[in-house]
Amino acid sequence: MRISVIGCGYLGAVHAACMAELGHDVVGIDVDEAKVALLSDSKAPFFEPGLPELLEKVMPTGRLRFTTDMSEVAGAQVHFVCVGTPQRKGEYAADLRYVDSAVDALAPYLEGTAEAPALVVGKSTVPVGTAARLAERVAELAPAGSRTILAWNPEFLREGFAVKDTLTPDRFVYGLPAGEDGPVAKALLDEVYATPLSTGTPLVTTDYPTAELVKVAANSFLATKISFINAMAEVCEKVDADVVALADAIGHDARIGRRFLNAGVGFGGGCLPKDIRAFMARAGELGADQALTFLREVDDINMRRRARMVEMTREACEGSLLGRRVAVLGAAFKPNSDDIRDSPALSVSAQLRLQGAHVTVYDPEAMDNARKIWPELRFGTDVADTIEGADVVLMLTEWDEFLALDPEQTGKQVRQRRILDGRNALDPAAWRAAGWTYRAMGRPRA
Ligand code: UDX
Repeated sequence: MRISVIGCGYLGAVHAACMAELGHDVVGIDVDEAKVALLSDSKAPFFEPGLPELLEKVMPTGRLRFTTDMSEVAGAQVHFVCVGTPQRKGEYAADLRYVDSAVDALAPYLEGTAEAPALVVGKSTVPVGTAARLAERVAELAPAGSRTILAWNPEFLREGFAVKDTLTPDRFVYGLPAGEDGPVAKALLDEVYATPLSTGTPLVTTDYPTAELVKVAANSFLATKISFINAMAEVCEKVDADVVALADAIGHDARIGRRFLNAGVGFGGGCLPKDIRAFMARAGELGADQALTFLREVDDINMRRRARMVEMTREACEGSLLGRRVAVLGAAFKPNSDDIRDSPALSVSAQLRLQGAHVTVYDPEAMDNARKIWPELRFGTDVADTIEGADVVLMLTEWDEFLALDPEQTGKQVRQRRILDGRNALDPAAWRAAGWTYRAMGRPRA
């Protein structure tokens, strides 16, 4: 099939490459010339495991190309809208300007016929009600006589696993229009996803608002799960109980499950924080704000974890951060990503610096992004350079490189053998055996 993908960020670039991998003929469109140039050269504009290899594999087949020229969508039958919906500055609500302008720019090129309609597929995370509004907009702006249909097909990929999650997703969700357009849109999407569907991937077909809500409901649930275990960590800290053992124990209950119960410095990234806030804002507009007041608490618990990490660092430095050398391992919001949006590691680093500490940060992949946003922080060239002479080491993003550190060797470079594990990912016994004062969030002091 001929497919266009509008927006080539974390979502769109991966989607475009994966659609080509499934055998489709794909054009990716982005307004950013530098991004398009990189992708056209088979290079990923961000760190995502497996994406460079996939680009190198599919670009030579001629089934994938990138351009800034929207008119090149002509000839494609299915158009995926994959642009970002960031949080508006100073507000909770999502900023829909990129989605709106993508649809406005795309619609005039839609060339649907009665037998072969043009299908616009929204993938971005949007406030409920957006799809219905965009369907009207598409109908209004498409050339006269062109048959166009809009579907909503939320994306659940995780950064770091984006290629795998796109090629072998847990499920598909189609939000379809009422009437005869619904089955036509479904048939087209079934054709796009024929390969993963053939392996038995579950499919839920529904209406627009439900499909839009599925995405924010899923992310709200995940955020709640993390904040629940972090709330337990707060209580554990008061009585020297162990939140990791607690998570293991409750996680054995299949109704609860162990995944997403890792306590620590909390969630960040471009999705969970802004999605729960945008969901609260939208619920408020709909007069359903009471239904989501718990998400306010989820957000608060999450932000308290960052403050708690600053507090633990102060405690480790005998009550004063002034002039103390703090080494922070991690800048990305999670490992296997160079994404620093709403990153707990950088937020903690900035707060420590404001309180007078000399902070040095290191991350295997996110240094360039981090430097751009936080130029006032000092960045180490590698782990050794970062921890040299440190009074305390903070492990805030659980990259394999950090988990593999040898406590004895590492101890030779620091001034004080003190480590705070913000992700409950290191082995306490190994670090303590090497003479380190090891502390983690929600775990006993010794
Ligand atoms: C998330 C959803 O998982 C994905 O389905 C959706 O499409 C987009 O948002 P992502 O933002 O890539 O994906 O990261 P995710 O793996 O969900 O992690 C989010 C944050 O939660 C990270 O900062 C991570 O460190 C943190 N986290 C995750 C925890 O603190 N504890 C956990 O147990 C799990």
